[in-house]
Amino acid sequence: MFVDMHHHFVYGIDDGAQTLEDMQKMLDLAYKSGADRIVATPHATPGRHTFQMERYLDHFEKAKAWCAEKEYDLKLYKGCEIFYTEDAPRLLDEGAIPSIGGSRYVLVEFSPDAPYDRLKQAARTLGSVGYQPIFAHIERYACLRKTAYVEEIYNDYQVITQVNASTVVNGGFFMRQWLRKVIKLGCLDLISSDAHNLKTRRFCMKECYEALKREYDKPMALQLCRRNALNILKECTPG
Ligand SMILES: [Fe+2]
Repeated sequence: MFVDMHHHFVYGIDDGAQTLEDMQKMLDLAYKSGADRIVATPHATPGRHTFQMERYLDHFEKAKAWCAEKEYDLKLYKGCEIFYTEDAPRLLDEGAIPSIGGSRYVLVEFSPDAPYDRLKQAARTLGSVGYQPIFAHIERYACLRKTAYVEEIYNDYQVITQVNASTVVNGGFFMRQWLRKVIKLGCLDLISSDAHNLKTRRFCMKECYEALKREYDKPMALQLCRRNALNILKECTPG
């Protein structure tokens, strides 16, 4: 039922899963909660830390092996969450950091206090070399509290937007108000888990889906938790 474009299940790469067992349990939880496609998006900081590609590929294969062993009907896609730096396009071109499922889609994040100009520059630069940026957890960036900027980045810079499921489930009054406005403006594409572990930052797309169904309606919940992501993954290769 759910397609998760942002998940830190690959162990031993970042602050997500730390052990093989963590990874297996995170996959169990996501699958049993209704996910049928998940993109592995460990953090990558181009030009600051070398992305451990070999280790990543090895641990990704172990994730696939676990799903096969458990007979899960769950497709896994490679990817990463790129902390945007000027080196990002070059390292993507060189294959030193993975795009989503080998496509031109890339998941990009910024510092929460990044100026709006930085976000625009990243969208422009990535777009000019043929990448389609997906901005991760847009609710985190102070500059995008101004919904006119969300509209601009979405409509004029063609950025795909993602919000975390935990924000929908646990967000306070003002956050919910902001989210309602962004959804009403038609400027939100994806809601993903950004799951890091099994406790403090766990997979909660099922709770999120139920909350969206209550607050909006079923088509909207499906669009944000599945349909829009499926459209993107049509251009991506699993495994
Ligand atoms: Fe993340």
